[in-house]
Amino acid sequence: MEITRRDGLAMLAGLAVTGCQTANVGTATATTSTAAAGPLGSRSTPSGFVSLQSLAAAKGMRFGSCFAWGEPGADRGSFANPAYADLLRRECGLLVGENEMKWQSIRPGPTSFDFRRFDAMMAWADANALPVRGHNLLWHQPKWMPRWEEAYDFGARPAREAERLLVEHVTTVCQRYGTRIRSYDVVNEAVNPADGSLYQTALSRALGGPEPTIDLAFRTAKVAAPHAQLVYNDYMSWEPGNANHRAGVLKLLEGFRTRGVPVDALGVQSHIVTQGVDAQGAVRALEGDWRRFLDTVTAMGFALVITELDVRDNGLPGDVVARDTAVAAYTRGYLDVMLDYPSVRDIVAWGMTDRYSWIEGFEPRADGARRRPCPYDDRFAAKPMRDAIASALSAAPARR
Ligand code: XIL
Repeated sequence: MEITRRDGLAMLAGLAVTGCQTANVGTATATTSTAAAGPLGSRSTPSGFVSLQSLAAAKGMRFGSCFAWGEPGADRGSFANPAYADLLRRECGLLVGENEMKWQSIRPGPTSFDFRRFDAMMAWADANALPVRGHNLLWHQPKWMPRWEEAYDFGARPAREAERLLVEHVTTVCQRYGTRIRSYDVVNEAVNPADGSLYQTALSRALGGPEPTIDLAFRTAKVAAPHAQLVYNDYMSWEPGNANHRAGVLKLLEGFRTRGVPVDALGVQSHIVTQGVDAQGAVRALEGDWRRFLDTVTAMGFALVITELDVRDNGLPGDVVARDTAVAAYTRGYLDVMLDYPSVRDIVAWGMTDRYSWIEGFEPRADGARRRPCPYDDRFAAKPMRDAIASALSAAPARR
């Protein structure tokens, strides 16, 4: 396998770092205090380390993660946190800003933009030759828009003002980053999972409804970033309880095709949820409906992107080894199905380590045990989930 420049740097970084690390042995996790294992875990020696990005690249894919802004030295999933930055450089070939491109981050008010944080992230990514996906140009839910937008006075001609605001927003962001960003989640989570309907925001009410708003976001992105892959991104998943959400997404995607809206791909967020200890049984039970959904999406000509992979370890005992084993098996089963679809070329994890995962705050475990949703643990040691991603990539058919 070809060793990339980044792999070479990663190996050097691995050799340079010493201190207490946790080593991962096979599918069981063992904690050791060994400098030799370095931050790469005990995957033989650091020089034998093969990154997830290398495994992905060998199949014509990319592996990446979200990352965040942070003050230098902050204990966050930030590029400014040396431990996290090392992990990103070692494992990733693609990055996504976790929050810093959202309206809430870059639109302090209707007439202002604040790109300071995202610019700093882009500068770091560029300096490390890491491509970045854009997330997102419109999170189509009132609770994720800035407060001022929901209270905004759209004036005497609301449709016109709403259109102006949205076009200005999408154009300003796309033009600022130009060809440095080649894939955008143009619209995020527009479908209400309860009944499959589309959310309304103050913006969409003023503009004349959710469809024209969403369509305009894509049409504007197509003009402002004609080079970019344009993605509709949502969290409809394969677990029970998602049927209405999936149906709503299919309806939206069909509408895109009927109306000639320029949408290239469905972003499958992949915040997956374990269904108990029998991961293989769960995969077998879920696979059929999920494949029917993906088949329908791809038959309409949409590519698929895994945009936010992480795992909620539900229905599993607190015991770490048992949990990690089940999470890994479930991840492997899920990725095997997803990677069977040749249009899946990008896999983005929603964070590389449990330490900074949003899942802990979003949905803590009932037993109070800390969530373990990511490929690395809270001490930056590789977990069985990391092996599961690696083995799924190794087993995946090569993309042409
Ligand atoms: C999450 C971030 O991880 C959190 O830090 C933030 O508080 C809320 O948003 N779907 C998405 C992501 O599209 O933007 C969300 O990210 C997770 C769910």
